[in-house]
Amino acid sequence: MTQHSLNQPQALPRVAFVTGAASGIGAAVCRLLAAQGVAIAAADQNAAGLAALHDSLGPDARFLGAVLDVRDEAAQQAFVAETEATLGAITDVVPCAGLARSAPAEAMSAEQWDLVLDINLRGTFLTCKATASAMLPRGRGSIVCLASITARGGQPGRANYAASKWGLGGRVKSLASEWGNRGVRVNAVAPNGVDTPMLTVGVPDHFREDVMLDRTPLGRFAQVEEVAQGIAFLLSDAASYVTGTVLDIDGGLTAGYLTHRHGADYALHQR
Ligand SMILES: NC(=O)c1ccc[n+]([C@@H]2O[C@H](COP(=O)([O-])OP(=O)(O)OC[C@H]3O[C@@H](n4cnc5c(N)ncnc54)[C@H](O)[C@@H]3O)[C@@H](O)[C@H]2O)c1
Repeated sequence: MTQHSLNQPQALPRVAFVTGAASGIGAAVCRLLAAQGVAIAAADQNAAGLAALHDSLGPDARFLGAVLDVRDEAAQQAFVAETEATLGAITDVVPCAGLARSAPAEAMSAEQWDLVLDINLRGTFLTCKATASAMLPRGRGSIVCLASITARGGQPGRANYAASKWGLGGRVKSLASEWGNRGVRVNAVAPNGVDTPMLTVGVPDHFREDVMLDRTPLGRFAQVEEVAQGIAFLLSDAASYVTGTVLDIDGGLTAGYLTHRHGADYALHQR
């Protein structure tokens, strides 16, 4: 039987492969891991955003950037190879690239549906596949995908986005089952609204303020750093016995279907 010491130090140097790294949560993950001494391989479609990220990490960071589209399997495989040749063995993976294209379902075009599924579900799978192909033979690695509260329920106007995130949850559990006995853990986080450009795409102001925030017990949206901390935990050896899980980082949104910040006060005063 394999013995695993809980006190085992993280002996090997860490190299993180992050997509969607030019903005929002992906950039915050890169900043947090780089501050912990992890080398960063950052991919995104947005060249200017990648350059800004590189600048923000400071001169001591070990950094490699690639402008690529996660739908391009060959490009991802090539960047995995370049990363391993330049920075060393990939140990941590965060497929963060994603987008929303919202519309009433009856008016949603096939192109809007396909684009969101193609990037959020297929593109992020290709990241898992390309990086795991390198990590599995070494028997070590951790992947954390980006689900969402829309992987816990539905959201009006986002049938395509919700389908992509529910699908991602099934994929996380399947990959965790498939790769666990070869040393690669696969988990996801499910954030509520996070203060990034995506928060405003197709979500009307009044819905964000009056519905989403009112139903969030902590009464605010997350900062990107708060999501990055959850991702860093799942990546690390502190989560060495955690795989196949989707961790809610939602300010309590999914804790109770009848939660209303103002309503809670109201209910407490009914006698
Ligand atoms: N912001 C939120 O409220 C929120 C909530 C839950 C989950 N998420 C998820 O977190 C992830 C990151 O979102 P964010 O809020 O940081 O968004 P963001 O828009 O700030 O960043 C997304 C990044 O992905 C990149 N990207 C998009 N399509 C790409 C492609 N085909 N190839 C390469 N790069 C591509 C963009 O250029 C951008 O830099 C997404 O998967 C999103 O679904 C976000």
